[in-house]
Order: sequence, then structure tokens, then C-alpha cells
Amino acid sequence: MKTVLGIETSCDDTSICILTDTGKFPKILAHKSFTQEEILKSWGGVVPEIAARNHLEKLVPLLKSAFQEANLKPTNIDLIGVTTTPGLLGPLLTGLNSAKTLSLMFKKPIRAVNHLFAHLEAIHLDQEVSYPYLGLLISGGHTAFLWVTNPTDFKIIGSTIDDAAGEAFDKGGKLMNLGYPAGRLVDNLSKDGNPEAFTFPIGLKSSADCRFSFSGLKTALRVQIDKQPSMIDKPNPDLCASYQKAIVDALLLKTRYAVKKIKEDYGILDFPIVLGGGVACNSEIRKRFKEKYNNAVFVKPEFCTDNGAMIANYALRTFDQKIDFPESLSLDSRGRFLDKKDFN
Ligand code: KG4
Ligand code: ZN
Repeated sequence: MKTVLGIETSCDDTSICILTDTGKFPKILAHKSFTQEEILKSWGGVVPEIAARNHLEKLVPLLKSAFQEANLKPTNIDLIGVTTTPGLLGPLLTGLNSAKTLSLMFKKPIRAVNHLFAHLEAIHLDQEVSYPYLGLLISGGHTAFLWVTNPTDFKIIGSTIDDAAGEAFDKGGKLMNLGYPAGRLVDNLSKDGNPEAFTFPIGLKSSADCRFSFSGLKTALRVQIDKQPSMIDKPNPDLCASYQKAIVDALLLKTRYAVKKIKEDYGILDFPIVLGGGVACNSEIRKRFKEKYNNAVFVKPEFCTDNGAMIANYALRTFDQKIDFPESLSLDSRGRFLDKKDFN
């Protein structure tokens, strides 16, 4: 039996998970999280230093309560997985230093985890999905297609050139006076709205490629609101539904190109499409992708937004890979996603 500890602190969620490989899917023994959503609401978004300070305060108590709930001690752990890229520097440092301390004190191996890969691989926490698959990662910080052939081989085949889908939801929600983060609120309000009430642009619509652009959408929303400021005096379901539709339309349009590209470049005609990351919780995205693609699968909502289970799960899935040395392990706040050499 393998027992893995996962530590996630890349942004505004402090999350710890202990799981084992017993059973068909990983068995979660403890999963303890603290989200800073309420604290950051008053700031209108993530403030890196405040986020880091909160991780510092919450991490050790969460670790203690996770071990307590799992009825285990650090000596029982076989591997420690910790997010080292990408993310905010201060928050990442908090998690990494805790992981290093545990690793060195209890002589446990450590796995540096790429947060983005972990988001997609979280599909395996409760579903059987075969490789290769096309991953659509839609989160607050990233929006990209990845061709995934095994738990360590991720090829980026397209990405956003400006905002991420989650940013489009959050910044749009801010313009609509809905507060932060707005994705879930826009999703819920849209259920009572008419998606045809307003027309919003789809970024890079005429480019037959896998790139996204969401910054024009935000500007179009601002222009719309400036024309009639009273439209946001109270939550406006029609505005939300129309705005959300433009995001979902963009995701579907670009998925069509991504599928075509995979077929052309790799000659593979049949593969699952895995949607992960916080925005993959969105009910309209799930509905419309299911309607269009019977091979679309979705990370379970509780594992979509940042969580420790996806980090522990990723460490478990790469258990047999060469381990990372705690003494010299560093982090990469920007992440390889921004490294142009990874694009083809
Ligand atoms: O994956 P995540 O927790 O953090 C990053 O790694 O960035 O994603 C957070 C994002 C936020 O932008 C939030 O507004 C969005 O996920 N989100 C949603 C929904 N739930 C969370 N967006 C649209 N619809 C939702 N239901
Ligand atoms: Zn994330």
C-alpha cells in the first residue's frame, strides 16, 4: 500500500490531502482545506502577500488535523507531493518549505508537482480515463489545450493569448458588480437569464487555431454597461447568461480546432476530452460539452477548484518516477506554460 500526502498552496487555497492507492480509485483518508475567498473578497481579488500570510497561518493546523483525521503520523507517509509550479511566489514557498521540512525530518521522498498537470490528472480520482487524452484546462490563471500521453508527458497545443477563462468570469463579474470570485455567481445567475439578450464577441473567432482570447469580451461588456449603467443596479441574469454564452461558445469553437489538430498531427481519431480546473465546474460548459462530445469527461466539481487531493493524486500516479531532492528542490512561479519553447 502507498500512502501519499499532498500539499497545495499555489494561490488562495490552502489544501492538504492524505490518500492511499487501495481500491480502484485513490482512497481519500483526509482532505482539509481553507479558502481565502471571504478574506480576499474585500480586496476584489488575490493579493499575493495576504495570500502568503494566510497560508502561513493555516497550513500547520490543517496538516495536523489531516493527520488526525487519517489517524496517521508523518512516519506513515510514503511520498509527499507539493505544488512547485506555477503559482504565486510567497504562497508556493509556504507549501514547499513545509513539504521540505517534513521530508527531511521524517526522511520521506518528495515529488514536485505541476499544478496544471494535477488539475487534469484529477480526472483519475474517480473515473477511468485512458491515455492519450485531450485536456482542456480552464482555471483562474490558465486556459489551454494539452495533449496528454501519460502522467508526465503533456504537450501544449494551444493556449490563451491574454486572459484565462476564469479571469474572464471574474473580471466580467467585477464589472457587473457581483463581487469576487464571480464564476460561480455568473453560472448561477445565468440559469434565469436569456443568453441571446446581448451579443458578445468571441475572441480569435476567425483564426482556425487553438488559441483563445478573452480580453475583448471584457471590453465589450464594459462598453455595454457604460451605455446603460443602470443595467447592473441589481444582478442581471440576461447580461450574465449572454456573457457566459460567449465564453462557452469560444471554448467549444476552439475545441473543434484542437480535435481537428490532434487528428491531423497524430492520426488518432478517437480520444477522451478531459475538462479540468475551476471553470470546469460551470454547469453550462458541462451541459454544452456533453451535448456536443460524447467523449467529454469532467473532473468532479470538488476536485476542479484548487485542492490537495489533485496534488496527492498526481504524486501517487508518478510514484515510481525519479524522486526530487528536498535539499535542492526549488520552485518556478511562472511555470513552463509561459515558456514559448513548449509550444508547437
Ligand atoms: O482552478 P482554480 O481553483 O484556480 C486556479 O488554478 O486558477 O480556478 C478558479 C477559477 C476562478 O476564476 C473562479 O471564478 C472559477 O474558477 N470558477 C467558475 C465556477 N466555479 C469556479 N467559473 C465558472 N463557473 C463556475 N461554476
Ligand atoms: Zn488551479
